[in-house]
Amino acid sequence: MTNITKGLEGIVALETKISFIDGEKGILEYRGINIELLAEQSFDIVAYLLLHGEIPSMEDAHRFSKLLKTKRDIDAKTKSVLNLCNFNIEAMDALRTAVSHMSHCDPDLNDNSLDANLRKATRLIAKFPTIVAGFQRVREQKKLIEPDSELTHAGNFLYMLRGEKPNDVETRIMNADFVLSAEHELNASTFSTRVTVSTISDLHSAIISGLGTLKGPIHGGARLAVMNMISEIGTADKTEEYILHLIKNKQKIMGFGHRVYRTMDPRAKIFKKMAKELAEDNGDMNWYQIGEIMEEVITREIVVKKGKPIYPNVDFYAGIIYKYLNFPPKLATAIFAIGRISGWLAHCLEQYADNRLIRPRAKYIGEHNKRV
Ligand SMILES: CC(C)(COP(=O)(O)OP(=O)(O)OC[C@H]1O[C@@H](n2cnc3c(N)ncnc32)[C@H](O)[C@@H]1OP(=O)(O)O)[C@@H](O)C(=O)NCCC(=O)NCCS
Repeated sequence: MTNITKGLEGIVALETKISFIDGEKGILEYRGINIELLAEQSFDIVAYLLLHGEIPSMEDAHRFSKLLKTKRDIDAKTKSVLNLCNFNIEAMDALRTAVSHMSHCDPDLNDNSLDANLRKATRLIAKFPTIVAGFQRVREQKKLIEPDSELTHAGNFLYMLRGEKPNDVETRIMNADFVLSAEHELNASTFSTRVTVSTISDLHSAIISGLGTLKGPIHGGARLAVMNMISEIGTADKTEEYILHLIKNKQKIMGFGHRVYRTMDPRAKIFKKMAKELAEDNGDMNWYQIGEIMEEVITREIVVKKGKPIYPNVDFYAGIIYKYLNFPPKLATAIFAIGRISGWLAHCLEQYADNRLIRPRAKYIGEHNKRV
Protein backbone atom coordinates (compact mmCIF):
# COMPACT_ATOMS: atom_id res chain seq x y z
CA MET A 1 0.00 0.00 0.00
CA THR A 2 2.69 2.50 -0.96
CA ASN A 3 1.37 4.03 -4.19
CA ILE A 4 -0.36 7.26 -3.29
CA THR A 5 -1.80 9.62 -5.87
CA LYS A 6 -2.42 12.90 -4.16
CA GLY A 7 -5.83 14.30 -5.02
CA LEU A 8 -6.55 10.99 -6.83
CA GLU A 9 -5.21 12.62 -10.00
CA GLY A 10 -5.59 10.34 -13.00
CA ILE A 11 -7.19 7.54 -10.95
CA VAL A 12 -10.09 5.83 -12.72
CA ALA A 13 -12.46 4.98 -9.88
CA LEU A 14 -15.51 3.70 -11.73
CA GLU A 15 -17.26 3.18 -15.08
CA THR A 16 -19.95 5.58 -16.27
CA LYS A 17 -22.22 6.02 -19.27
CA ILE A 18 -23.14 9.58 -18.35
CA SER A 19 -20.37 11.75 -19.75
CA PHE A 20 -17.03 11.56 -21.53
CA ILE A 21 -14.10 13.99 -21.40
CA ASP A 22 -11.06 14.10 -23.67
CA GLY A 23 -8.81 16.47 -21.75
CA GLU A 24 -6.14 16.66 -24.47
CA LYS A 25 -8.51 17.55 -27.29
CA GLY A 26 -10.99 19.51 -25.18
CA ILE A 27 -14.05 17.37 -25.87
CA LEU A 28 -17.03 16.86 -23.57
CA GLU A 29 -20.02 14.65 -24.36
CA TYR A 30 -23.17 13.94 -22.37
CA ARG A 31 -24.46 10.43 -23.08
CA GLY A 32 -22.37 10.38 -26.27
CA ILE A 33 -23.56 13.77 -27.58
CA ASN A 34 -21.04 16.61 -27.97
CA ILE A 35 -21.96 19.56 -25.75
CA GLU A 36 -21.72 21.89 -28.74
CA LEU A 37 -24.87 20.18 -30.01
CA LEU A 38 -26.56 20.41 -26.61
CA ALA A 39 -25.83 24.03 -25.66
CA GLU A 40 -28.93 25.33 -27.42
CA GLN A 41 -31.21 22.46 -26.36
CA SER A 42 -33.61 23.16 -23.53
CA PHE A 43 -32.36 22.34 -20.03
CA ASP A 44 -35.37 20.05 -19.56
CA ILE A 45 -34.32 17.90 -22.52
CA VAL A 46 -30.73 17.72 -21.29
CA ALA A 47 -31.82 16.85 -17.73
CA TYR A 48 -34.01 14.07 -19.18
CA LEU A 49 -31.05 12.88 -21.31
CA LEU A 50 -28.81 12.70 -18.24
CA LEU A 51 -31.37 10.93 -16.06
CA HIS A 52 -32.76 8.52 -18.62
CA GLY A 53 -29.85 8.06 -21.01
CA GLU A 54 -31.60 9.22 -24.18
CA ILE A 55 -33.00 12.34 -25.81
CA PRO A 56 -36.75 12.16 -25.07
CA SER A 57 -39.38 11.69 -27.75
CA MET A 58 -41.53 14.83 -28.32
CA GLU A 59 -44.21 13.29 -26.14
CA ASP A 60 -41.83 12.39 -23.28
CA ALA A 61 -40.15 15.80 -23.49
CA HIS A 62 -43.52 17.49 -23.18
CA ARG A 63 -44.55 15.28 -20.25
CA PHE A 64 -41.23 15.80 -18.44
CA SER A 65 -41.32 19.61 -18.86
CA LYS A 66 -44.91 19.68 -17.65
CA LEU A 67 -43.98 17.59 -14.62
CA LEU A 68 -41.07 19.90 -13.76
CA LYS A 69 -43.35 22.94 -14.07
CA THR A 70 -45.92 21.48 -11.70
CA LYS A 71 -43.23 20.79 -9.06
CA ARG A 72 -41.63 24.25 -9.02
CA ASP A 73 -43.49 25.56 -5.97
CA ILE A 74 -41.91 25.37 -2.54
CA ASP A 75 -44.08 24.98 0.55
CA ALA A 76 -44.66 27.64 3.19
CA LYS A 77 -42.34 25.96 5.71
CA THR A 78 -39.42 25.98 3.26
CA LYS A 79 -40.11 29.65 2.56
CA SER A 80 -39.97 30.37 6.27
CA VAL A 81 -36.68 28.42 6.50
CA LEU A 82 -35.27 30.81 3.88
CA ASN A 83 -36.46 33.69 6.01
CA LEU A 84 -34.64 32.28 9.04
CA CYS A 85 -31.29 32.14 7.22
CA ASN A 86 -28.62 34.73 7.89
CA PHE A 87 -28.99 37.10 4.93
CA ASN A 88 -25.22 37.60 4.56
CA ILE A 89 -24.51 34.00 3.63
CA GLU A 90 -23.98 32.69 0.13
CA ALA A 91 -27.17 31.46 -1.53
CA MET A 92 -25.42 28.10 -1.65
CA ASP A 93 -25.62 27.82 2.15
CA ALA A 94 -29.32 28.64 2.11
CA LEU A 95 -29.89 26.11 -0.67
CA ARG A 96 -28.16 23.39 1.37
CA THR A 97 -30.32 24.24 4.39
CA ALA A 98 -33.51 24.26 2.30
CA VAL A 99 -32.72 20.85 0.75
CA SER A 100 -32.11 19.45 4.19
CA HIS A 101 -35.39 20.87 5.44
CA MET A 102 -37.32 19.64 2.37
CA SER A 103 -36.02 16.13 2.96
CA HIS A 104 -37.93 16.02 6.28
CA CYS A 105 -41.21 16.44 4.43
CA ASP A 106 -40.44 14.28 1.40
CA PRO A 107 -42.79 11.27 1.32
CA ASP A 108 -40.11 9.19 -0.45
CA LEU A 109 -37.19 10.23 1.76
CA ASN A 110 -35.81 6.78 2.61
CA ASP A 111 -37.20 4.91 -0.37
CA ASN A 112 -34.25 4.22 -2.67
CA SER A 113 -36.21 2.42 -5.39
CA LEU A 114 -35.74 3.78 -8.92
CA ASP A 115 -39.32 5.08 -9.09
CA ALA A 116 -39.04 6.92 -5.78
CA ASN A 117 -35.64 8.31 -6.75
CA LEU A 118 -36.99 9.60 -10.06
CA ARG A 119 -39.86 11.29 -8.22
CA LYS A 120 -37.42 12.91 -5.78
CA ALA A 121 -35.07 13.86 -8.63
CA THR A 122 -37.85 15.67 -10.49
CA ARG A 123 -38.91 17.55 -7.38
CA LEU A 124 -35.34 18.60 -6.59
CA ILE A 125 -34.53 19.77 -10.13
CA ALA A 126 -37.81 21.71 -10.32
CA LYS A 127 -37.44 23.41 -6.94
CA PHE A 128 -33.77 24.47 -7.06
CA PRO A 129 -34.42 27.69 -9.06
CA THR A 130 -37.36 28.59 -6.80
CA ILE A 131 -35.21 28.23 -3.67
CA VAL A 132 -32.27 30.22 -5.07
CA ALA A 133 -34.43 33.04 -6.44
CA GLY A 134 -36.59 32.94 -3.30
CA PHE A 135 -33.61 33.34 -0.98
CA GLN A 136 -32.31 36.29 -3.00
CA ARG A 137 -35.76 37.93 -2.85
CA VAL A 138 -36.14 37.46 0.92
CA ARG A 139 -32.71 38.84 1.63
CA GLU A 140 -33.50 41.87 -0.51
CA GLN A 141 -36.70 42.11 1.53
CA LYS A 142 -38.79 41.79 -1.61
CA LYS A 143 -41.97 39.80 -2.13
CA LEU A 144 -41.47 36.25 -3.42
CA ILE A 145 -42.49 35.74 -7.05
CA GLU A 146 -44.58 32.65 -7.80
CA PRO A 147 -43.25 30.41 -10.62
CA ASP A 148 -44.76 31.08 -14.05
CA SER A 149 -45.59 27.85 -15.87
CA GLU A 150 -45.59 29.67 -19.22
CA LEU A 151 -41.83 30.19 -18.87
CA THR A 152 -38.97 27.75 -19.37
CA HIS A 153 -36.75 26.55 -16.51
CA ALA A 154 -34.22 29.31 -17.32
CA GLY A 155 -36.74 32.06 -18.14
CA ASN A 156 -38.74 31.32 -15.02
CA PHE A 157 -35.63 31.46 -12.82
CA LEU A 158 -34.75 34.94 -14.12
CA TYR A 159 -38.37 36.02 -13.69
CA MET A 160 -38.60 34.75 -10.08
CA LEU A 161 -35.31 36.48 -9.30
CA ARG A 162 -36.11 39.86 -10.82
CA GLY A 163 -39.89 40.05 -10.92
CA GLU A 164 -39.69 40.95 -14.62
CA LYS A 165 -39.82 38.75 -17.68
CA PRO A 166 -36.30 38.35 -19.17
CA ASN A 167 -35.52 39.03 -22.83
CA ASP A 168 -34.80 36.24 -25.32
CA VAL A 169 -31.01 36.64 -25.34
CA GLU A 170 -30.80 36.43 -21.54
CA THR A 171 -33.14 33.43 -21.42
CA ARG A 172 -31.19 31.57 -24.10
CA ILE A 173 -27.86 32.22 -22.36
CA MET A 174 -29.23 31.30 -18.92
CA ASN A 175 -30.51 28.06 -20.42
CA ALA A 176 -27.08 27.36 -21.94
CA ASP A 177 -25.47 28.01 -18.58
CA PHE A 178 -27.71 25.40 -16.92
CA VAL A 179 -27.01 22.92 -19.75
CA LEU A 180 -23.24 23.41 -19.81
CA SER A 181 -23.02 23.31 -16.01
CA ALA A 182 -25.12 20.16 -15.77
CA GLU A 183 -22.56 17.41 -15.93
CA HIS A 184 -18.83 16.82 -15.86
CA GLU A 185 -17.88 13.20 -15.18
CA LEU A 186 -16.25 12.49 -11.82
CA ASN A 187 -15.60 16.05 -10.63
CA ALA A 188 -15.25 16.55 -6.88
CA SER A 189 -18.91 17.27 -6.09
CA THR A 190 -20.23 14.45 -8.27
CA PHE A 191 -17.76 12.09 -6.64
CA SER A 192 -18.99 13.13 -3.20
CA THR A 193 -22.62 12.46 -4.19
CA ARG A 194 -21.60 8.99 -5.37
CA VAL A 195 -19.67 8.31 -2.17
CA THR A 196 -22.78 9.23 -0.15
CA VAL A 197 -25.05 7.03 -2.23
CA SER A 198 -22.56 4.16 -2.04
CA THR A 199 -23.42 3.81 1.64
CA ILE A 200 -27.08 3.37 0.54
CA SER A 201 -27.90 6.73 2.05
CA ASP A 202 -30.75 8.77 0.54
CA LEU A 203 -30.79 11.11 -2.46
CA HIS A 204 -31.30 14.32 -0.46
CA SER A 205 -28.23 13.50 1.65
CA ALA A 206 -26.21 12.93 -1.53
CA ILE A 207 -27.30 16.29 -2.94
CA ILE A 208 -26.31 18.00 0.31
CA SER A 209 -22.86 16.39 -0.01
CA GLY A 210 -22.68 17.68 -3.58
CA LEU A 211 -23.66 21.21 -2.56
CA GLY A 212 -21.08 21.29 0.21
CA THR A 213 -18.36 20.16 -2.18
CA LEU A 214 -19.33 22.41 -5.10
CA LYS A 215 -19.12 25.47 -2.87
CA GLY A 216 -15.31 25.44 -2.55
CA PRO A 217 -13.45 28.18 -4.46
CA ILE A 218 -11.32 25.76 -6.47
CA HIS A 219 -14.47 23.95 -7.64
CA GLY A 220 -17.83 25.67 -8.33
CA GLY A 221 -17.07 28.55 -5.98
CA ALA A 222 -14.58 29.76 -8.61
CA ARG A 223 -17.48 31.57 -10.33
CA LEU A 224 -18.01 33.76 -7.31
CA ALA A 225 -14.25 34.39 -7.12
CA VAL A 226 -14.13 35.30 -10.83
CA MET A 227 -16.96 37.81 -10.37
CA ASN A 228 -15.18 39.42 -7.41
CA MET A 229 -11.86 39.52 -9.26
CA ILE A 230 -13.38 41.12 -12.37
CA SER A 231 -15.09 43.76 -10.19
CA GLU A 232 -11.81 44.40 -8.37
CA ILE A 233 -9.97 44.89 -11.67
CA GLY A 234 -12.72 47.31 -12.68
CA THR A 235 -11.64 48.43 -16.15
CA ALA A 236 -9.84 46.85 -19.08
CA ASP A 237 -6.80 49.17 -18.80
CA LYS A 238 -6.05 47.88 -15.25
CA THR A 239 -6.15 44.19 -16.23
CA GLU A 240 -2.60 43.49 -17.34
CA GLU A 241 -1.02 45.04 -14.26
CA TYR A 242 -3.41 43.16 -11.94
CA ILE A 243 -2.70 39.77 -13.54
CA LEU A 244 1.06 40.32 -13.72
CA HIS A 245 0.97 41.07 -9.99
CA LEU A 246 -0.86 37.78 -9.28
CA ILE A 247 1.59 35.82 -11.41
CA LYS A 248 4.61 37.49 -9.78
CA ASN A 249 3.23 36.54 -6.36
CA LYS A 250 2.56 32.97 -7.51
CA GLN A 251 -1.15 33.31 -6.83
CA LYS A 252 -3.65 31.14 -8.66
CA ILE A 253 -5.90 32.96 -11.09
CA MET A 254 -9.52 32.03 -10.57
CA GLY A 255 -11.38 30.61 -13.56
CA PHE A 256 -8.14 29.26 -15.07
CA GLY A 257 -6.55 25.83 -14.99
CA HIS A 258 -8.14 22.40 -14.78
CA ARG A 259 -7.36 18.95 -13.44
CA VAL A 260 -8.35 17.23 -16.69
CA TYR A 261 -8.19 19.70 -19.60
CA ARG A 262 -4.80 20.42 -21.14
CA THR A 263 -6.37 22.87 -23.59
CA MET A 264 -9.26 25.35 -23.38
CA ASP A 265 -12.30 23.87 -21.64
CA PRO A 266 -14.90 23.29 -24.41
CA ARG A 267 -17.58 24.87 -22.21
CA ALA A 268 -15.45 28.01 -21.83
CA LYS A 269 -15.29 28.35 -25.65
CA ILE A 270 -19.09 28.40 -25.87
CA PHE A 271 -19.44 30.71 -22.85
CA LYS A 272 -16.88 33.11 -24.35
CA LYS A 273 -19.05 33.58 -27.47
CA MET A 274 -22.12 34.06 -25.28
CA ALA A 275 -20.36 36.57 -23.02
CA LYS A 276 -19.50 38.59 -26.14
CA GLU A 277 -23.08 38.42 -27.33
CA LEU A 278 -24.36 39.63 -23.95
CA ALA A 279 -21.75 42.40 -23.87
CA GLU A 280 -22.88 43.60 -27.30
CA ASP A 281 -26.52 43.27 -26.32
CA ASN A 282 -25.85 45.37 -23.20
CA GLY A 283 -23.77 47.89 -25.19
CA ASP A 284 -20.97 47.51 -22.63
CA MET A 285 -17.86 45.54 -23.58
CA ASN A 286 -15.91 46.24 -20.35
CA TRP A 287 -16.24 42.90 -18.50
CA TYR A 288 -15.72 40.97 -21.72
CA GLN A 289 -12.61 42.98 -22.59
CA ILE A 290 -11.16 42.34 -19.12
CA GLY A 291 -11.69 38.63 -19.79
CA GLU A 292 -9.99 38.74 -23.17
CA ILE A 293 -6.99 40.65 -21.82
CA MET A 294 -6.68 38.20 -18.91
CA GLU A 295 -6.65 35.33 -21.36
CA GLU A 296 -3.96 37.02 -23.51
CA VAL A 297 -1.70 37.85 -20.55
CA ILE A 298 -2.02 34.38 -18.98
CA THR A 299 -1.34 32.69 -22.34
CA ARG A 300 1.76 34.83 -22.86
CA GLU A 301 3.12 34.63 -19.29
CA ILE A 302 2.12 31.12 -18.16
CA VAL A 303 1.30 28.97 -21.19
CA VAL A 304 4.07 30.21 -23.50
CA LYS A 305 6.79 31.29 -21.07
CA LYS A 306 6.32 28.59 -18.41
CA GLY A 307 4.84 25.81 -20.55
CA LYS A 308 1.89 25.19 -18.19
CA PRO A 309 -1.56 24.42 -19.67
CA ILE A 310 -3.44 27.16 -17.84
CA TYR A 311 -6.48 28.04 -19.97
CA PRO A 312 -9.93 29.42 -19.09
CA ASN A 313 -12.19 26.83 -17.49
CA VAL A 314 -15.99 26.69 -17.34
CA ASP A 315 -16.18 29.20 -14.51
CA PHE A 316 -14.28 32.02 -16.18
CA TYR A 317 -16.64 33.21 -18.90
CA ALA A 318 -19.61 31.94 -16.85
CA GLY A 319 -18.53 34.46 -14.18
CA ILE A 320 -18.40 37.19 -16.84
CA ILE A 321 -21.85 36.17 -18.10
CA TYR A 322 -23.16 36.43 -14.51
CA LYS A 323 -21.73 39.97 -14.30
CA TYR A 324 -23.69 40.94 -17.40
CA LEU A 325 -26.82 39.30 -16.00
CA ASN A 326 -26.30 41.46 -12.93
CA PHE A 327 -26.25 38.58 -10.44
CA PRO A 328 -24.87 39.32 -6.99
CA PRO A 329 -21.64 37.26 -6.56
CA LYS A 330 -23.07 35.46 -3.52
CA LEU A 331 -25.65 33.89 -5.84
CA ALA A 332 -23.13 32.52 -8.33
CA THR A 333 -22.37 29.04 -6.98
CA ALA A 334 -26.02 28.31 -6.23
CA ILE A 335 -26.88 29.14 -9.86
CA PHE A 336 -24.19 26.67 -10.92
CA ALA A 337 -25.94 24.09 -8.71
CA ILE A 338 -29.28 24.65 -10.50
CA GLY A 339 -27.65 23.10 -13.57
CA ARG A 340 -25.34 20.62 -11.87
CA ILE A 341 -28.03 18.90 -9.82
CA SER A 342 -29.18 17.04 -12.92
CA GLY A 343 -25.72 15.48 -13.37
CA TRP A 344 -25.46 14.63 -9.67
CA LEU A 345 -28.80 12.88 -9.79
CA ALA A 346 -27.89 10.90 -12.91
CA HIS A 347 -24.70 9.73 -11.18
CA CYS A 348 -26.60 8.80 -8.02
CA LEU A 349 -29.01 6.66 -10.04
CA GLU A 350 -26.07 5.01 -11.81
CA GLN A 351 -24.40 4.33 -8.45
CA TYR A 352 -27.55 2.84 -6.87
CA ALA A 353 -28.01 0.60 -9.92
CA ASP A 354 -24.59 -1.04 -9.55
CA ASN A 355 -23.37 -0.18 -6.10
CA ARG A 356 -20.26 -1.08 -4.20
CA LEU A 357 -19.27 0.88 -1.11
CA ILE A 358 -16.64 3.50 -2.05
CA ARG A 359 -14.06 3.10 0.65
CA PRO A 360 -10.41 3.67 -0.26
CA ARG A 361 -7.48 3.31 2.12
CA ALA A 362 -5.03 5.79 3.61
CA LYS A 363 -1.37 5.14 4.32
CA TYR A 364 -0.77 5.75 8.02
CA ILE A 365 2.29 7.94 8.59
CA GLY A 366 1.82 8.68 12.31
CA GLU A 367 3.50 7.08 15.27
CA HIS A 368 2.69 3.68 16.84
CA ASN A 369 2.45 2.30 20.35
CA LYS A 370 2.41 5.65 22.11
CA ARG A 371 1.52 5.75 25.80
CA VAL A 372 -1.49 7.60 27.15
C1 LIG B 1 -8.70 23.64 -10.95
C2 LIG B 1 -7.41 23.44 -10.22
C3 LIG B 1 -7.71 23.19 -8.74
C4 LIG B 1 -6.73 22.19 -10.79
O1 LIG B 1 -5.64 22.01 -10.06
P1 LIG B 1 -4.67 20.74 -10.02
O2 LIG B 1 -4.95 19.77 -11.09
O3 LIG B 1 -4.68 20.23 -8.62
O4 LIG B 1 -3.32 21.45 -10.39
P2 LIG B 1 -2.37 22.20 -9.39
O5 LIG B 1 -3.10 23.13 -8.50
O6 LIG B 1 -1.50 21.15 -8.77
O7 LIG B 1 -1.54 23.07 -10.42
C5 LIG B 1 -0.59 22.56 -11.33
C6 LIG B 1 0.35 23.69 -11.72
O8 LIG B 1 -0.38 24.66 -12.47
C7 LIG B 1 -0.43 25.90 -11.77
N1 LIG B 1 -1.80 26.41 -11.81
C8 LIG B 1 -2.93 25.67 -11.76
N2 LIG B 1 -4.00 26.48 -11.82
C9 LIG B 1 -3.53 27.74 -11.89
C10 LIG B 1 -4.16 28.98 -11.95
N3 LIG B 1 -5.48 29.08 -11.93
N4 LIG B 1 -3.39 30.07 -12.00
C11 LIG B 1 -2.04 29.98 -12.00
N5 LIG B 1 -1.38 28.81 -11.94
C12 LIG B 1 -2.12 27.70 -11.89
C13 LIG B 1 -0.05 25.59 -10.32
O9 LIG B 1 0.51 26.68 -9.67
C14 LIG B 1 0.90 24.43 -10.49
O10 LIG B 1 2.17 24.94 -10.85
P3 LIG B 1 3.52 24.21 -10.34
O11 LIG B 1 3.46 22.83 -10.95
O12 LIG B 1 4.62 25.06 -10.87
O13 LIG B 1 3.44 24.17 -8.84
C15 LIG B 1 -6.49 24.67 -10.37
O14 LIG B 1 -6.21 24.87 -11.73
C16 LIG B 1 -7.08 25.92 -9.74
O15 LIG B 1 -7.00 26.08 -8.52
N6 LIG B 1 -7.67 26.83 -10.58
C17 LIG B 1 -8.29 28.02 -10.04
C18 LIG B 1 -9.64 27.73 -9.45
C19 LIG B 1 -10.68 27.39 -10.49
O16 LIG B 1 -10.85 28.11 -11.47
N7 LIG B 1 -11.38 26.28 -10.27
C20 LIG B 1 -12.44 25.84 -11.12
C21 LIG B 1 -12.05 24.59 -11.82
S1 LIG B 1 -13.24 24.11 -13.03
